Formats: sequence, C-alpha cells, structure tokens
Amino acid sequence: MTDGGTSRASVFEHGGARKTAEGLTYLSGFGNEHSSEAVPGALPEGRNSPQRAPLGLYAEQLSGTAFTEPRAHNRRSWLYRIHPSAAHPAFARTDNGAIRTAPFTESVPDPNRLRWNPLPEPAPGTDFLAGLWTLGGNGDATQRTGMAVHLYHANASMDRVFSDADGELLIVPERGGLLLHTEFGRLHVEPAYVALIPRGVRFRVELLDDSARGYVCENYGAPFHLPDLGPIGANGLANARDFMAPVAAYEEVEGPVEVVNKFCGNLWTALYDHTPLDVVAWHGNHVPYIYDLRRFNVIGTISYDHPDPSIFTVLTSPSDTPGLAGVDFVVFAPRWLVGEDTFRPPYFHRNVMSEYMGLIEGAYDAKAEGFVPGGGSLHNMMSAHGPDRETFDKASAAELKPQKIDDGLAFMFETRWPVTLTPQAAGAEHLQQRYDDVWQGMERHFRAV
Ligand SMILES: [Fe+2]
Repeated sequence: MTDGGTSRASVFEHGGARKTAEGLTYLSGFGNEHSSEAVPGALPEGRNSPQRAPLGLYAEQLSGTAFTEPRAHNRRSWLYRIHPSAAHPAFARTDNGAIRTAPFTESVPDPNRLRWNPLPEPAPGTDFLAGLWTLGGNGDATQRTGMAVHLYHANASMDRVFSDADGELLIVPERGGLLLHTEFGRLHVEPAYVALIPRGVRFRVELLDDSARGYVCENYGAPFHLPDLGPIGANGLANARDFMAPVAAYEEVEGPVEVVNKFCGNLWTALYDHTPLDVVAWHGNHVPYIYDLRRFNVIGTISYDHPDPSIFTVLTSPSDTPGLAGVDFVVFAPRWLVGEDTFRPPYFHRNVMSEYMGLIEGAYDAKAEGFVPGGGSLHNMMSAHGPDRETFDKASAAELKPQKIDDGLAFMFETRWPVTLTPQAAGAEHLQQRYDDVWQGMERHFRAV
C-alpha cells in the first residue's frame, strides 16, 4: 500500500503477537471539505473532472446525498482511482450469514425489557463480515429509513472487500483493535474509539489482535452529523476537530478480489480482477472517520437533577421532524456527579424512543450487575426501566459529595421506532432469561402522612 496526503503514514509492523498501526496520520474535522493525495499531483486543481485526470487516473463522484440536498447536508466526494468503479462483472447473490435487514418481519415487536450476554466464540476463520450478527432494527432499508443493531465477533482478517449500499456503519469496538482499509485510506480503531463508514464506501477489516468484538449501528436514514448545541454554545459534546478522516492510501492488486455488496438486505458478490481500494487521491465530505470517545466533552448538571440523556449525544441522524432522530448515538463517558438533592443515576423513565445499550468497558452506573462488556440491553418504546434495586437503594442513601464516575464506558443507540428482533436474537442462548428480576423486590416506601 502507498500512503500520502498531508503527511506520510508510517508503516505498521508486527510487534510480537500484535500489530499496531500507530503513526497513521489523519485529517481533522467532521464535515470538512477534506482532500488528500497519495502521489503528488494526483489531485486535479480547480476542477473535479478534467478532460484527462492526472497520472492516468479515472475521476468518479460518490454521492452520499441527493445532488440537490441543501449545502449544509450535502455529502459527496470525488475519487481519483486506478480503475473506474464501473469496471466489474455482475454481482450474484451470496449467503447473508447472520446479517438481517429492515423491514424486520420475522417476529413481532417485543415490549419486554431484554438483555443479552456477549456473542459466543465464532468458528475459526470468521472475518468481520462473517462475524456480523443482527439483533434487530426498524424502518425499511429500501426506503432509507430506520436502523439496525448488529454485533460482531471475528477472529480473522478480511481478504475480501465490503460495501453497504443500505446505510452507513457506525462501528463500536469492544474488544480488539481494527485496521480499516477504506477507499479513502486507513483508519485504526481500538475499544473506546468508534469508526463511521459512509454509505457505499468500500473497506476491509484487518484484525490487530487474535479476535475482535463489538457493536455496529447500521443507519439507513440521513447521514449522522453532529447535534446542534443550542444554548450550550459553540463548543462542547463531541467537538468537530476530534473526528479524524484518513489520508489517501491505495492498494495495487491486479488479480482476483472478492467484493461483497450489501444491497436492500442481501449480500451480493463479484470477483473483480483488481482491488477497488485503488483510490490514489480524493476530496470531499463523504468520508470515513474515527473518533475517540474519551474526547467527548461531557456536560451535566452543576445544580440539581440528572439532565435527559440527550445531553450525551455524539452523533444524530435527523428525520423530517426537527429534534426527532432516526437514531442517536449517545455515550455515557467518565464524568463528575455533583447534583445537590438529586437522585444521581439515570432516572426511572418510559420513553417514546427505543433504546439499545451496550457496554465497551467497566460498569454502568444504573446497573449493579448483569450488564457486561460485549452484552447489551433493549428497552423498547414505552417500556419502563431505570436503575436496578441495588443501585436505587444505594443512590437514595448516598452522601451527596462530588463523585467521579470513571469506571465504565457505555453507549446507546436511541431510535424513533421500536426495535424488532431477529429470530436469532429472540431465541439466542445468550439472551438473559430473568432480566425483569433486577426491578423485583423494590420496597414500598409510601406513607400518606
Ligand atoms: Fe432509558
């Protein structure tokens, strides 16, 4: 692979049993009009599609939004590549594995509070794509609405290339580092980072450890963007400058490469005679990113009451109704609790939005046990949930001195429609059978006088 851009990326090497990708360089800023070239002079100046693109490259636009969407929402990039994307044989259907796509119609939506343990160990040779396992979702991929919750557990690097026409992919590693080789260059993520792969962008996943595990939000709707900040002001929550895009890096493989395309819920495969990861230069704003969740600027009360968890929104996919997200990505990052006369853990509530929660590391302050890294919980529309009994009792009696919550990193995919489970999630061996019990035995304290 050849790297370039604003600065050179260093070569990564085997370091004992583990590779590292330290030294990769990135371009800073969410939504920026980025540009990068792996070879000097590969990027045309002053126009997108000259009569002859530099260095014999093919110019090609990749549109993530309709041509005519407002400038503030418009996403597109220009790619300068060795082979045009159009040069490929026909795709043929292939096995979908454990991947499922909205509309989810194989089971009825479940109003129960549900919680899962981590995915079991995969068979040897399972790559990221084969290790994707769909929990459920909502909407309709063909209508570009809704989302899906996937988990992955892999133990092999991909020797094929994948792209998802159905939506963008927010990858949330929980165990194991990943090196993402994308059309735009390379991205390195570890647990506590997330990666955002835009709709249609091709990539392959190299494992940096023996195995990798995590979560994926597939967003069929409008692309994720940073939430408005309103009275918070010009800074805070996830800061735009902390989102890192890759610098251009291309591969030169003139030989058979399997390319898998997810299209309207099915996987299709074609055997190219070259790699499609052959983009030598690019510019635009439809680009992949990584983001370090530890950079999140957590904002909370300095007087009383726990704010609504929307204050922890990292990214949001808007709908046609202002403030109503198709899906929000929310992080519960380390923070201080200082509220006076306040029940400090997340409060009891019922929510018109549906909430899937996962845990990247440590513990979550509303659950004493049972919610483990790699596992997840689902609280569908209007289901009653909140702290478990042990947490409630403890928080109700706690001395309210300033307290640092720094022993965990949890997140939530919060979505406008109920999440309908796949049969494999509804019947999974790792579905906990007695989750309701965490709210049993809560004592009556009411006294009329
Ligand atoms: Fe909730």
